[in-house]
Amino acid sequence: MTGYENDPNGYAAYVAQKANDHIPQEEYDQLVEPYREAMTRLEVRMKGLNEDYRKKYRDYPIHNIQTRIKSRKSIEHKLVARKLPITAFAAKDTLTDIAGIRVICYFTDDVYHILAAIKSQTDLMIIKESDYITYPKSSGYKSYHMVLGIPVYRIEGMQYYPVEIQLRTLAMDLWASMEHRICYKGEIPDETTDAFTRYSNELSEMERRMKHHLDEIRRNNPQEPMQ
Ligand code: GTP
Ligand code: MG
Repeated sequence: MTGYENDPNGYAAYVAQKANDHIPQEEYDQLVEPYREAMTRLEVRMKGLNEDYRKKYRDYPIHNIQTRIKSRKSIEHKLVARKLPITAFAAKDTLTDIAGIRVICYFTDDVYHILAAIKSQTDLMIIKESDYITYPKSSGYKSYHMVLGIPVYRIEGMQYYPVEIQLRTLAMDLWASMEHRICYKGEIPDETTDAFTRYSNELSEMERRMKHHLDEIRRNNPQEPMQ
């Protein structure tokens, strides 16, 4: 590793200097408050869509929803990595993943149905969109990512706050959770990396076969209520 003293103007020096900078707790609390509201609004909307879908198609497309607000430490790390000032202002100005919501669906079709429903919500703004399901990452990572602008109302008026949404199936979530747990830290052997790329395809194939069973059962039992 390059020593800090050998790289006085480089990244290591910058990180070492910035490591002492912090966003005060009070400023962090103020910063995240409207993001928390935006995230909750989106979560409620997602639950509403799930219920609507159930009434229309007898099925819940969403298995579960997870939400998180980026921690103070994690915000500070990201600002350091981007060589930005460690301030609440810089965070608000540049980060679009302070609020995150993960929507886990049963099948890939469900992800695209939910996506279509989101796109028909006229009050939400689509800021960014990446389809890692059609175009998986080289690691094998699959999910549909969007940054949505959610209107938050205050006495001064309305402002859009970004919420990062990740839509994926249970199979994709199994892969991402395991890969994060196993491949996140340390040196990863090539055989592990290769195996995970394979597992991604195998999980997609398993999901496809399970969907086939569901479709068959449906065809033969058109009236049967589904859970
Ligand atoms: P970030 O700075 O990490 O937010 O990168 P980005 O803005 O380019 O977004 P990207 O779409 O690459 O990834 C955002 C999030 O998706 C990450 O924070 C992870 O939650 C997830 N993700 C992306 N790639 C992978 C991957 O290869 N494995 C796993 N387990 N998760 C991933
Ligand atoms: Mg992120």
